[in-house]
Amino acid sequence: MTAHVFLMATAGITLQQGVDLAYLLASIGFILGLKQLSSPRSARKGNSTAAVGMAIALIASLFVLHPTNTKIVIVVVAVAIGGVVGLVSARKVKMTAIPQMVAAFNGVGGGAAALVSIDEYMHVSLAAPGIVSIVAVIFSVVVGSVSFAGSIIAFLKLQEMMSGVPITYPGQRIVNGGLVVVILGLVVYLIGVHASVAALAIMLVVSILLGLGFVLPIGGADMPVVISMLNAFTGVAVAASGFAIGNTGLIVGGTLVGASGTLLTKMMSDSMGRSLTNVLFAAVGKPVASEGGGAGDAGEVKSYRSGNPEDIGVLLAYSQKVIIVPGYGLAVAQAQHVAKELATTLEARGVEVTYAIHPVAGRMPGHMNVLLAEADVPYDQLKEMDLVNDDFQSTDVVLVVGANDVVNPAAREVKDSPIYGMPILNADQAKNIVFLKRSMRPGFAGIDNPLMYDPKTIMLFGDAKDSLTKLVAAVKGA
Ligand code: TAP
Repeated sequence: MTAHVFLMATAGITLQQGVDLAYLLASIGFILGLKQLSSPRSARKGNSTAAVGMAIALIASLFVLHPTNTKIVIVVVAVAIGGVVGLVSARKVKMTAIPQMVAAFNGVGGGAAALVSIDEYMHVSLAAPGIVSIVAVIFSVVVGSVSFAGSIIAFLKLQEMMSGVPITYPGQRIVNGGLVVVILGLVVYLIGVHASVAALAIMLVVSILLGLGFVLPIGGADMPVVISMLNAFTGVAVAASGFAIGNTGLIVGGTLVGASGTLLTKMMSDSMGRSLTNVLFAAVGKPVASEGGGAGDAGEVKSYRSGNPEDIGVLLAYSQKVIIVPGYGLAVAQAQHVAKELATTLEARGVEVTYAIHPVAGRMPGHMNVLLAEADVPYDQLKEMDLVNDDFQSTDVVLVVGANDVVNPAAREVKDSPIYGMPILNADQAKNIVFLKRSMRPGFAGIDNPLMYDPKTIMLFGDAKDSLTKLVAAVKGA
């Protein structure tokens, strides 16, 4: 009698009941973890809670293997390799590169779900498979492969290993539609006509082509939304593979990923003021012939005001109310600690300081919250867009630190702008606006920002961390 069978026997439950109980505990861990992740205060704890749930699920899965020594060795080696790769990459990855890491991990998840289902199919196709099992296998193979291939393209675009410009060609939608039709034809064949491993293999290849074809025409700027959606795809593929092999842990875990990924995708599209269809099919980011109005237009030279740290330091020091708008550049410069130092220095002089957080500032959901939490900025100083937008009118200085698109008034005013309709922070309503960035270059959306040419705006050029350090000194000396 092996140790685990002995343990179960003494506890009075069967092995299957023990495993189901462990999966229940793991599911509770996932749900509690998700709940805790929804607030910056408890997010760290949420990560650990979900990780404990995953550890329980992994250990329980060892018991459903009906293990031989070889199987145990293979699984333990696989878990060790996966664990080391995950740990090292999570520790080494820069915060700004998290989206591509998520893309890579997500692709692996989708691919794994597809492989598990293929293996199951090779077993069940020889017997007389039930319809539920066969549908689950097919669903998992198709969705998992689309997610796998799409995630690879998303990774390559974000890692700048391929151009972020949407790759389009005439008749692209017809080709993609054709791939969908082939897949549907194979589904009908596999379910209604004949069980065939060869047909499943063709379906796998066509699904991979569909995943590639689906993500290639989407611009690099929209990749975080695409990754979130592919993450939801992976979730449902995993849940389907759970149905195929009768594993409750996979069903629950996959469904949670599918549901949360879907909600996150919707929230991100809403925050950018765009529909998901627009994100997926409008090829936003493709270079277009200029129709006028941008700073880059031939013949038009717009003037802007650049300032020095000393003068801006005095302006800040004698203000009553300052709002800091952090953006992607703050993350690149790793300027969160010195931003906090500037805020503390100003507060010591009686200046009221808050941080205005746009939901898609940076490159991933919650990016700014995570950075500022790392610098121990009190949570009550972080104000979400809807709560802070009315405060700008009564603000003396808005300090835009490495942000651009999230304060671009073109989103409100320029109908043909790619970001038209995106809710923005009302920085333009403040009495003074100071941009801390290195140049007049545009942000992620690749478009000019009229706010930089506003007479109320002062540009302070340089790396955000250097500029903030100089501002701290200037405020202290004012
Ligand atoms: P962006 O519009 O991308 O602007 C960032 C600015 O930071 C750039 O204009 C850049 O100007 C500046 N910068 C870069 N490195 C810097 C450094 N070391 N020091 C100082 N400045 C630096 O950023 P944002 O305002 O945060 O907007 C986010 C964008 O990402 C939006 O378009 C949003 O739709 C998109 N997006 C976000 C998400 C999520 S979930 N966050 C998802 C999808 C898309 P210089 O080069 O002149 O320095």
